[in-house]
Amino acid sequence: MGTLPVMNICCIGAGYVGGPTMAMIAYKCPDIQVTVVDLNQKRIDAWNSDHLPVYEPGLDDVVRAARGRNLHFSTEVNAAIQAADMIFIAVNTPTKTFGTGAGRAANVEFVEKCARQIAEVSTGHKIVVEKSTLPVRTAEAVKRILENANNGTTFEVLSNPEFLAEGTAVQDLLSPDRVLIGGESQTAIQTLVDVYAHWVPRERILTTNLWSSELSKLTANAFLAQRVSSINAISALCEATGADVDEVAKAIGTDSRIGPKFLKSSVGFGGSCFQKDILNLVYLCEHFGLREVAEYWEQVIKMNDYQKRRFCERMVRTMFNTVSNKQIAIWGFAFKKDTNDTRESAAIYVCRDLLQERARLKIYDPQVSEEQVHRDLIEVFSHTHGTITDQERALIKEHVRVAASAEEAAQGAHAIAVLTEWDEFKRLNYDSILQSMYRPAFIFDGRNLLDHRHLSSLGFDVHAIGKKIS
Ligand code: NAD
Ligand code: UDX
Repeated sequence: MGTLPVMNICCIGAGYVGGPTMAMIAYKCPDIQVTVVDLNQKRIDAWNSDHLPVYEPGLDDVVRAARGRNLHFSTEVNAAIQAADMIFIAVNTPTKTFGTGAGRAANVEFVEKCARQIAEVSTGHKIVVEKSTLPVRTAEAVKRILENANNGTTFEVLSNPEFLAEGTAVQDLLSPDRVLIGGESQTAIQTLVDVYAHWVPRERILTTNLWSSELSKLTANAFLAQRVSSINAISALCEATGADVDEVAKAIGTDSRIGPKFLKSSVGFGGSCFQKDILNLVYLCEHFGLREVAEYWEQVIKMNDYQKRRFCERMVRTMFNTVSNKQIAIWGFAFKKDTNDTRESAAIYVCRDLLQERARLKIYDPQVSEEQVHRDLIEVFSHTHGTITDQERALIKEHVRVAASAEEAAQGAHAIAVLTEWDEFKRLNYDSILQSMYRPAFIFDGRNLLDHRHLSSLGFDVHAIGKKIS
């Protein structure tokens, strides 16, 4: 049976995934009308402005080329669903914070709401595509909800998880390692294949059954995070033994079976996906009675928590066992470079721990706003023991300042902590930064980003992850 070309796509959720992925589809498929909808008016307004809500290198150009032509951003969810042949669901699926599975299971309530809304307002035939990352077998629930629509509408459900990484989203979308499409109906699968085939070589478009597709996404993130936790575990051993973690990573990464990527030791992984998806995997394993498998993957998170915690502990120990009222420059607050996203950023946890030690923080990040920094710190204290106390609120208010540059953050500081690997930190005038700091002037490089020998020779007291600086 031949497939009908898709003429009209709707995507529910204009976030870090919905926005960039749909912009790329519109950019590469001028024959398809793409409408991205969201309940959040501010976000939609930003997508329609010159200041996009998502910072991604190259994204402005892609959006500018397609917006108004065949790419539209709107809050008219029902109208966009009605007009579409294919509807992507790209809403958030955060870790549940309440009820059964709290702290582990994915909260799929927004996905279910979308399915119900689609069922309610649709007519004719629709292909519904899960773009959000979901627990295995969520498609079953989505299908049941859609099947119960009583207006004669017919539906096919596909799983098409997204593998882009933030900071490199445009490149990842332009040239993906693979596109994964899971489904039961070959016709529906082929319709989505035809969309991607506008620019992705056919051999990179993999098709599977629904459950393999859903599970592959969780598995890919678990494997990637596991590599980071593995090298971070080795970094602790390097610090104890005099080995250098970057040298070890290079040595093992040249083994073609291991490969060089995702072996960069750091202050800990962050981002909205790794922790959430592993917790989700752990929860699923427990649900299916696979305790050993659950424990195995949970260890990846435990190691990451350990890595974040021991970074602060090392700072305190090195700075004569007290950082109370010492000013510390925090360089970088985003969870990685080239994004304005701070979700689960290691910086949030390091800042929390330093604040608990009564340090004074001057935070600089080229893309993260002052409001976001305060929001994140208030939230992390609230989560730590269920509520934020008045003293903690006062601590954040009095001990946290946001600086307009890295130099300003370091002015009058006892130490600098590099928490995000922004390129601009490599190009600073460290001689003049040193002159503006208290002595000894400590640098704790949580990304192994800087030229440690050079900084030492200037007179800094340098500490890096998984190595001793002589
Ligand atoms: P996000 O929070 O940035 O965006 C989700 C958007 O959905 C929000 O703007 C929210 O307002 C909107 N939304 C929620 N419910 C809605 C509803 N009923 N109707 C209309 N809009 C609604 O999230 P994100 O980072 O884009 O992630 C989306 C999904 O993609 C998640 O499942 C995530 O795990 C997955 N994912 C994320 C990444 C990433 O790098 N961020 C990568 C791959 C996969
Ligand atoms: C990840 C997956 O890479 C992507 O495929 C998926 O779609 C979403 O989740 P993302 O979280 O955006 O992407 O960024 P990623 O590059 O994977 O980095 C995640 C975290 O790991 C960051 O905090 C990063 O700094 C850290 N990291 C990564 C390391 O500490 N060392 C590394 O070697 C690689």
